[in-house]
Amino acid sequence: MSDDLEPETLALHTGIHRSQFNEHSEAMYLTSSFVFESAAQAAARFSGEEPGNIYSRFTNPTVTAMQERLAALEGAEACVATSSGMSAILACVMGLLSAGDHIIASRSLFGATVSLFTNILNRFNIQTTFVSATDIDEWRAAVKVNTKLLFLETPSNPLTEISDISALSAVAKQANAWLVVDNCFCTPILQKPLELGADLVIHSATKYLDGQGRVLGGAVLGKRDLLMDGGIFGFLRTAGPTLSAFNAWVILKGMETLKIRMDTHCAHAIEIARWLEAQKSVSRVFYPGLSSHPQYELAKCQQTAGGGIVTFEVKGGKEAAWRVIDNTKLISITANLGDAKSTLTHPATTTHGRISQEARDAAGITDGLLRVAVGLESPQDLKADLARGLLS
Ligand SMILES: Cc1ncc(COP(=O)(O)O)c(C=O)c1O
Repeated sequence: MSDDLEPETLALHTGIHRSQFNEHSEAMYLTSSFVFESAAQAAARFSGEEPGNIYSRFTNPTVTAMQERLAALEGAEACVATSSGMSAILACVMGLLSAGDHIIASRSLFGATVSLFTNILNRFNIQTTFVSATDIDEWRAAVKVNTKLLFLETPSNPLTEISDISALSAVAKQANAWLVVDNCFCTPILQKPLELGADLVIHSATKYLDGQGRVLGGAVLGKRDLLMDGGIFGFLRTAGPTLSAFNAWVILKGMETLKIRMDTHCAHAIEIARWLEAQKSVSRVFYPGLSSHPQYELAKCQQTAGGGIVTFEVKGGKEAAWRVIDNTKLISITANLGDAKSTLTHPATTTHGRISQEARDAAGITDGLLRVAVGLESPQDLKADLARGLLS
């Protein structure tokens, strides 16, 4: 497939391997294992002498199709799919790092990522230093001789802070470390971290790539040698958090509409963000597409639009935030994001509820903060729904 095709075309025409039936919609291969023609072929497949499928924990044609489509969209040499976004992050760490290695990570990360780095990796003597998402000097100062990985999300969850990928790629190169970017909020439609110097991109495919809140999935993308020889694929194949064929098929088909969905999510989100800024009971709105966003200029260089997530702080703390949530009739009270249906979350007591108060304070996750993942409904209806619980 030609590299110069537009993303909406790539999303429809890559990863297609038709069976003998010449089906138009991609087939789903629900099988745990694959049959060999002879003992010699089985041995050749296992030794790697002959390419081909063996067992679906290793590879599966539907998963391969999903990987090819996402790789085409991200402009990546290779992609390995995982059972969730968290297992994509775990695969990077387990594939590339050893006990005694050091990670530098943004303080503004999804709560489970913070928990993985602090509560779990610590036990395996992999230490993490958390730094400001936006202050490059802090990243530079945190580099140690054993630093192997720099990890960030941009825009971050939930405050939509923007990290400078190119500048941090330079820091990583100087430190002889890998830069890993969680591109979940933007998707390759809005931002391509590999082009900006990241070594690896990870995705929670659970979010916009599926786009309708149906399945969990994840992916790691980057150079083939880093993914295949660097140990990431080896970890997944051995330890098992690979993507199921069913979930891969749902995500493969979900990606077909990614471009038009992202365009609509962004158009609706900016409208909601501007409207929230005008509400008396809202003290702050965090949205990279607003000129009031502290990294608005950087976001304009790095992303093609602001994304679908709008975070805002209401006056009156948790009580006021919960009032907004409990008065909605349309927007779903759920922790997921990237769904066609809008979702509303109180990060301090849900997605970030398990990290310490100290870490929440440092990350700026206040009790009055709400995150709306703006869906595909009419923005007018969404505004009316949010207005029900906002004090005028
Ligand atoms: C930015 C970000 N990264 C990673 C994850 C983890 O993804 P998953 O739930 O698919 O494991 C999430 C989940 O909300 C997320 O928001």
